[in-house]
Amino acid sequence: MSILVTGAAGFIGSNFVLDWLSQDNETVINLDALTYAGNRENLASLEENPAHIFVRGSIADFDLVAKLLAEHAPRAVINFAAESHVDRSIHGPEDFIQTNIVGTFRLLEAVRAYHGRLPENEKNRFRFLHVSTDEVYGSLNKDDAAFTETNRYEPNSPYSASKAASDHLVRAYHHTYGLPVLTTNCSNNYGPYHFPEKLIPLCIHNALAGKPLPIYGDGQQIRDWLYVKDHCSAIRRVLEAGKLGEVYNVGGWNEKANLDVVHTLCAILDELSPRADGQSYRTQITFVTDRPGHDRRYAIDATKLERELGWKPAETFETGIRKTVQWYLDNQAWVNNVTSGAYKQWLGKQYGAAA
Ligand code: NAD
Ligand code: DAU
Repeated sequence: MSILVTGAAGFIGSNFVLDWLSQDNETVINLDALTYAGNRENLASLEENPAHIFVRGSIADFDLVAKLLAEHAPRAVINFAAESHVDRSIHGPEDFIQTNIVGTFRLLEAVRAYHGRLPENEKNRFRFLHVSTDEVYGSLNKDDAAFTETNRYEPNSPYSASKAASDHLVRAYHHTYGLPVLTTNCSNNYGPYHFPEKLIPLCIHNALAGKPLPIYGDGQQIRDWLYVKDHCSAIRRVLEAGKLGEVYNVGGWNEKANLDVVHTLCAILDELSPRADGQSYRTQITFVTDRPGHDRRYAIDATKLERELGWKPAETFETGIRKTVQWYLDNQAWVNNVTSGAYKQWLGKQYGAAA
């Protein structure tokens, strides 16, 4: 048996595949376009593992997806592939529309055709799991209750609007065509292999490089943080036991203001890798112009996932963030390859022109 995982050379997808193959021998077909965010170096430990089949290509390529489905007959498709960075979506939304909306549509079309041809027992077993975000619900005020699965969709950035559209397509393919879908809406992830354009890895990297730690606006925006491996375990659980057509919110009950997150990072770095001049990394914090349309607060109510499927995160923010800082300290070569662009050359060296 096998599963097809899209976007699995990115941050969460690569953690998912590493976690999957550490527990299971079931083959993973990894379809990833290797955009700037896709990094095969994340999966270097699987080079010799025959249970990991990497295919470079886009979810928007109907023929390629159809061929992979026919060839490998997976029992599930898990869709991580997306353009994921809000700031990039503000500067240039086109790729977000193409991948997150058009790409998801083409992927759904190929999966629908494949699913329709499966024998009855395989049809019943098949799942399409779509990985989405809490950002589709918009922004909360200070005293609002956390997002539940029944919150209205109110996306505010081109990124969240494109993810909302993809969620609606997934829902429509269930209701219209009976495709057996599951959707997860998760809060902010952090952990190993996080691309250093996002707040946490960017600040760890900049701190160690002696650069400013840029805080947008007043730094009082709130995000709800989840250690990436907990997100992976939630997806595994929903895939195993989720009810078809249902949506599951995933979160770690860890609401933090951005400035507090960066203060925590500085305190851990001060302890684990003190600055040569004895000053705190906090002195590098710099307030910069706010992100346009910046959502003030996200908070996930993950009660449904816990009550119905028995899932709970293993890490608190305190344990997860310490592990994360330690990982970045131990993997400076990975960070240097990503920030210098050498990770793309690594790919070239490893796989030649085919990369
Ligand atoms: P990422 O940007 O690190 O990785 C995205 C991956 O998708 C990359 O490997 C990229 O090469 C690949 N990709 C992009 N376009 C593609 C295409 N057309 N076809 C195939 N592959 C393509 O993103 P991430 O942070 O790992 O997020 C993964 C998924 O989880 C996304 O759908 C995102 O919306 C969702 N999500 C992320 C977070 C978070 O905090 N990072 C939280 C909730 C949900
Ligand atoms: O909520 C889930 C979402 O979390 C995912 O769907 C997205 O794919 C993922 O990128 C993430 O989006 P955010 O915009 O919340 O993540 P980011 O790391 O870009 O920003 C986190 C917060 O920190 C946000 O309030 C903006 C702020 N920020 C970010 C950067 C990059 C700064 O203050 N300074 C920065 O330099």
